[in-house]
Order: sequence, then C-alpha cells, then structure tokens
Amino acid sequence: MTPDLLEEGARRVQKHRAAPTGLNNTESGGRSASDGRLTTAGEVDVAHGRILYLEDVSVSFDGFKAINKLSLDIAPGELRCIIGPNGAGKTTMMDIITGKTRPNEGRVFFGSTIDLLRHKESEIAQLGIGRKFQKPTVFEQLTVFENLELALKTHKGVKASMFFRLDSVQSDRLAEMLVTIQLAGSVNRLAGNLSHGQKQWLEIGMLLMQDPKLLLLDEPVAGMTDEETARTAELFLTLKGKHSLMVVEHDMSFIRTISEIVTVLCDGSVLAQGTLDQVQADERVIEVYLGR
Ligand SMILES: Nc1ncnc2c1ncn2[C@@H]1O[C@H](COP(=O)(O)OP(=O)(O)O)[C@@H](O)[C@H]1O
Ligand SMILES: [Mg+2]
Repeated sequence: MTPDLLEEGARRVQKHRAAPTGLNNTESGGRSASDGRLTTAGEVDVAHGRILYLEDVSVSFDGFKAINKLSLDIAPGELRCIIGPNGAGKTTMMDIITGKTRPNEGRVFFGSTIDLLRHKESEIAQLGIGRKFQKPTVFEQLTVFENLELALKTHKGVKASMFFRLDSVQSDRLAEMLVTIQLAGSVNRLAGNLSHGQKQWLEIGMLLMQDPKLLLLDEPVAGMTDEETARTAELFLTLKGKHSLMVVEHDMSFIRTISEIVTVLCDGSVLAQGTLDQVQADERVIEVYLGR
C-alpha cells in the first residue's frame, strides 16, 4: 500500500468506528504521508531501455552490509523474478527502491532521469512505483468494493477524495479490476472475511487501481493454496507488458511458470542471472541453496 492510501484508509476505517486490522504490525506499519506530495507523476523516460536501474548500491546496518555493491536493471514491461536465500537482501533492496531505506552509496534511477534517492517514500509511490509487502494489508472492515474505490480515490489526492464520486470510466475500471483479481463474486464482502489468497489479490488490485508503472511484490504467494498460487501466476502473466514487475519468491514452481530472467541475490549482491534452468544449474547457486 502507498503511504497516501494508508492515511486515507485509516481515516475511513475510523469513520466506521473500528480499529484497522492488519495495518499496525505490518512491515509498512506506521508510515505516514509527507507534505511533499507530487501532483503530477509525469512520464518516465525509458528511452535507454530501463525502467529501473541500480548501480553499486550498498547499505550497512550496524556495520553489517545487507546490500553490497548491488547493480541491477529492469526493462520496461519486464517481469523479473528475484530469488535468494533468507537474509540475501531482497526485502532491503525493495526498501531502497521505495525510499524506505536510504543506501550509504550507489545510484538508483527510475527511468533514465528520475533519481529515486532524491525522493521521499510518498513521492516515490506517486511517481508510479507500487509495492506489495509480504503480509496482506487491506482494510478489513471495508468491503472489497470500498477497498478498491478507496485506492482509486486516494490516487486522485486525498483532498479531492472528500468530494470524489466515481465517474462511469472509473466505475468500469473498478468492475474490470474485480474480474482481473477474481473477486467479482465477492464485491460486497468485508475484506476481513476473504481467504488469505483473496486478500493478497485485493491488495494487488488496490495497487493496480493506482496504475503503477513498476510493481514490487515481496513473496506474493507465500501461504497461498496451490490453486491460489496458480491463479496468481495467471494474473501476473496478464500484467506483464502493461506494467514492469519485480517479484521476490521462494516458490520455484511459481517462478518456473512466470519467469523469463531470474536474478539470484546472495549476501546483498547479484550472484547469478539468467533463465531459471541456467541459474539452477549454476554451481555457486547450488552451493548457496544447499548450504556450505
Ligand atoms: N533495519 C534493519 N536493521 C538491521 N538489520 C537489518 C535491517 N533490515 C534488514 N536487516 C538485515 O539485512 C539482511 C537482509 O535482510 P532482508 O533484506 O530482509 O533479506 P531477505 O528479504 O532476502 O530475506 C538480514 O541479515 C537482515 O537481518
Ligand atoms: Mg524478505
């Protein structure tokens, strides 16, 4: 969820006189929107064939290098899979891209002209980078419809949202999204009553309502049933091309279904990159996964 959405949703939930669930103890919990909201997102310059570009990025926590000279780039419309053992730095990399964590050194660009290190977390979301944290973060006391509507409204800016009514184009988009995330039959159900997988889809739908250019998804199928995982793979394949996606996952059969290029992270940098077959045959990758 974006900072603006968290803020507006919390306001809305309060109106319902119930505490938000699943919001306070998430990885993103407690973030608040800043004043420096960008009003126009503008276009991202991808003339150089990259929507995201990281060069020699490092970050240390108490002297421990969680990210170590990490360089990586993603093409527009690409669906990039990121794998790697626990502690490799996958989540920290997403924290850096989204402005939650500042690296000690390196360059992080969105397209060829937007220096993400010069922007705050809320601005980065407004620029068109959506992030799905591992745990589902939906407004449980609101219905599926209300959650999606809120995401659409918040995208328009919080101030405007007080007087906001869905026009027919937006209603159509919302209806389409319900089909895309396979929740058309659950439109009036409270989000809190959905299955884990359905909550994950709802949150992805909320992110998509904000039309992100780049979508970062951290372990989206963790805890899903096999059927939910298969449906999520289908969904991601339909998003590819329209959006650029970076998907961190441990589930190798899921990765096999959706992946083109797979990047293996280890000790904060890229260990290997290629097709899943290529990286799985790589001795260094085998060593890391089997343990030294
Ligand atoms: N805010 C933080 N403070 C201290 N250490 C951190 C912090 N965030 C991550 N780390 C450490 O950085 C390493 C990489 O973590 P993480 O990015 O969560 O790995 P992954 O997502 O690949 O499992 C881990 O050793 C983790 O303990
Ligand atoms: Mg992680």
